[in-house]
Amino acid sequence: MRIQDAFAKIFLAAAVITLPSCCHEESMDQLTKRVMDCAVRQLTILDHHLAEDEFPRTFINGAYLDSGAEWWCSGFFPGSLWYVYEVTGNETIKELAVKNTLKLRNIVSLYTDHDIGFQVNCSYGNAYRLTGDERYLPVMEAASAKLAGRYNPTVGCIRSWDHEWFNYPVIIDNMMNLELLLSCSGLFRCDSLSRIACAHANTTIINHFRDDFSSYHLVDYIPESGEVDHKQTVQGFAHESSWSRGQAWGLYGYTMMFEKTGDGSYLTQAENIARYILPLLPEDGVPYWDFNAPGTPHAMPADAPGHPAVYNWREGEKIARDASAAAIMASAFVTLSSLTKDKALAFECKKMAERIIRVLASPMYLAEVDEIGGYLIKHCVGNMQGLSEIDVPLTYADYYFLEAVVKYGRR
Ligand code: GLY
Repeated sequence: MRIQDAFAKIFLAAAVITLPSCCHEESMDQLTKRVMDCAVRQLTILDHHLAEDEFPRTFINGAYLDSGAEWWCSGFFPGSLWYVYEVTGNETIKELAVKNTLKLRNIVSLYTDHDIGFQVNCSYGNAYRLTGDERYLPVMEAASAKLAGRYNPTVGCIRSWDHEWFNYPVIIDNMMNLELLLSCSGLFRCDSLSRIACAHANTTIINHFRDDFSSYHLVDYIPESGEVDHKQTVQGFAHESSWSRGQAWGLYGYTMMFEKTGDGSYLTQAENIARYILPLLPEDGVPYWDFNAPGTPHAMPADAPGHPAVYNWREGEKIARDASAAAIMASAFVTLSSLTKDKALAFECKKMAERIIRVLASPMYLAEVDEIGGYLIKHCVGNMQGLSEIDVPLTYADYYFLEAVVKYGRR
């Protein structure tokens, strides 16, 4: 045997022996520990740079963009800290969670729209869930009353925005605000909060969804009659397209509604939305910002209405992914997989949740220290049509990613 052949054989044998260990897939427990270690580090960096009355919003071209309490995302950073505390028991992270939650103590006087549900449920809701500390209750009670005050019984929905260029706008995102009403209904023995949440969800099933269970972004109602004036998009590619994050809000919203109320019509809706979304997701599970934007594998025809010029602002498929939509879907898929009685769907939801969690926890999406200023998840799209927050980190991607990891571990 030639000396080179002998070396080649020794090398091959060594490779065969080491292969199983080096190719061994990280367990979900190991992944959770790695993600939480990363989150402790990153969220601490993020907190240290914040002014006393500020919240993280995003990080663009090496610079922080923060927000005040009034921005719809202000509850996500405290909520992320609460999830990290829930898993790690890290008392320093708990102190940051308390501090950032209490920064929202005046939110009710600052409220301007339906997003008060997001803002308070993610921060105060998690704070109360994990600590049972009653000092969190007054803000939750006042916020739920404000949100319920936006309900119009003729329409059967909570008004999303007060902009005067709409009659009575309701966006699919509003499904997410209902969780605050359902939690507070039980906490404060106030059945009307739960009735309003269910009425809103029922009206939304009727008017927001197409036959294939994709959803419109915005339905504008005539408040005096409750009739639909028109349906349109705001952040999606086209009025008839399927904006990815909107589909994620719908999936999560109806999954949550069933989990909290036990009403089977919500489970059916969530299952149908999941059956619509699952075949459209790319191999790694991270959707393009709109399922019908040109250049995506499931794009609408080139002559479809919309704004292709906006999409073409930069080329490349990764640029157009929206990791925030993936994170929200992953969290909803984890929950739906344990609620649905359809075994095949449960299997597909769990498989997709794990796939998304794994890819978001990979170097492709999970940030290195200081890479994006303390945020966790890269490559999100805030508002492509508004040319705002494109291919950046977003606090809600971090929040729902951490939630998905925590919920996956709880199954
Ligand atoms: N609720 C706003 C958004 O999803 O961008």
